[in-house]
Amino acid sequence: EKYDFGLVGLGVMGRNFILNVADNGFSAYGYDLDAEKVAALKEEGSHLAKVNASTNIKTFVKSLKEPRKIMLLVPAGKIVDGVIESLLPYIDRGDIIIDGGNSFFTDTDRREAYLHDKAINFFGAGVSGGAKGARLGPSIMPGGSKSAYQHIKPIFEAVSAKYKGEPCVAYLGPKSSGNYVKMVHNGIEYGLMQLTSEVYDLLKKAGDFSNEELHSTFSKWNEGRLQSFLVEITSKILEQKDDLGKGDLVDQILDKAKQKGTGKWTSQNAMDLGIPIPSIDIAVSMREVSALKDERIKADKLYDRPEVELLDKEELAKMAEEALYFSFIITYAQGLHQLADASREYNYNLDVTTIAKIWRAGCIIRAGLLADISEAFEADKDLPNLLLSSQFVDKVKSTVGSTRKLVAHAAANGIPLPGLSNSLTYFDAYTSSRLPLNLIQAQRDFFGSHTYERLDQEGIFHTEWE
Ligand code: 6PG
Repeated sequence: EKYDFGLVGLGVMGRNFILNVADNGFSAYGYDLDAEKVAALKEEGSHLAKVNASTNIKTFVKSLKEPRKIMLLVPAGKIVDGVIESLLPYIDRGDIIIDGGNSFFTDTDRREAYLHDKAINFFGAGVSGGAKGARLGPSIMPGGSKSAYQHIKPIFEAVSAKYKGEPCVAYLGPKSSGNYVKMVHNGIEYGLMQLTSEVYDLLKKAGDFSNEELHSTFSKWNEGRLQSFLVEITSKILEQKDDLGKGDLVDQILDKAKQKGTGKWTSQNAMDLGIPIPSIDIAVSMREVSALKDERIKADKLYDRPEVELLDKEELAKMAEEALYFSFIITYAQGLHQLADASREYNYNLDVTTIAKIWRAGCIIRAGLLADISEAFEADKDLPNLLLSSQFVDKVKSTVGSTRKLVAHAAANGIPLPGLSNSLTYFDAYTSSRLPLNLIQAQRDFFGSHTYERLDQEGIFHTEWE
């Protein structure tokens, strides 16, 4: 009896994903070079009877039903190419390889073209939701051959998270579209995380909130329109005690954030496309600033900081909730704007509504707000930017005022709010019919005869400025 689904890479994600597949009634076979991981999976899956694993790649491949569906959950990079090469001698035309990692999208295009020549179907399918998501229901973002998707669809729909019964997976588009969408998901993730950390800092510094008060503030917010996975885990983090007995764990954690590259790729590619996503860019930059801890300690001694003027706790919390909601909207708006543009540039034919829908549950950026976002795009398929949706005007108008007050207060008091202020500045610029870039055009023409256009007539102009 052959198996329905194969999985390469039995780390935590891979093991959890395969158990999820088996839980949903499909037989699944795992492969890893590491015998301990193979043994661990067999043991954890023993009660399921439909789970098996091997350290032998030929045994693995030959155990799978055709067309074989082989998912890779291995670290992005050369390892993916290595695994593909090791599968090639045993797989057949029509088989399907699915890369579930955070591969860079151009790598996926290269692999897809390479395998296409061998009549092997290749999917880049971003998986979001961490280890728990893999086990209980992730959001999955697959891109590749539409006809081959029919073979993996039943399995993916069964294992994915559900939002009111709807699976958080859908065929997104050809080639690297799935990896691209996951990359932008992660860019948005970076943005939302940065914003959450700023609001946490602001409440502490400008409101003297204790961790306990912060915990209850974030959990209250999570009951309302800010309901989201990241706000929820923030509230949990803030009540976690340190196992070493040093009080609250969050206060013992070194303030240097690491990154594996997906946020940076989102920013780099947005620059290539010419789409502004400053709320995401600054989140990448702030991880970089955070890493300069030694320099920051030296600089802290060189410069004075104003004494912070405390605000009324209740008032501050109310404004902070509005500012966080405002900047969450702006961050999603920027990420989705990038997706819409990338779709044209790379011929992905993406449907933003579908993407917003499969993000409503399972993934790291899941949030109540995504239901509203998917409705806005449903109402207008060609919406270039969420800020242009009539359904969002009131949400934005009613929260931008508090954002202004808090950004101003933080600036006057030396509290860095780069994500909030970048979101506000983006909003103010995007909603300005006239920007001062006329002056930049004049300067360009002044020093380099780069020419300019005019408001009052068509054509290309140049002035002898001196
Ligand atoms: C997810 C996450 C996941 C990854 C994080 C961490 O959607 O489940 O995005 O893919 O663990 O993106 O990334 P950094 O290490 O770059 O913060």
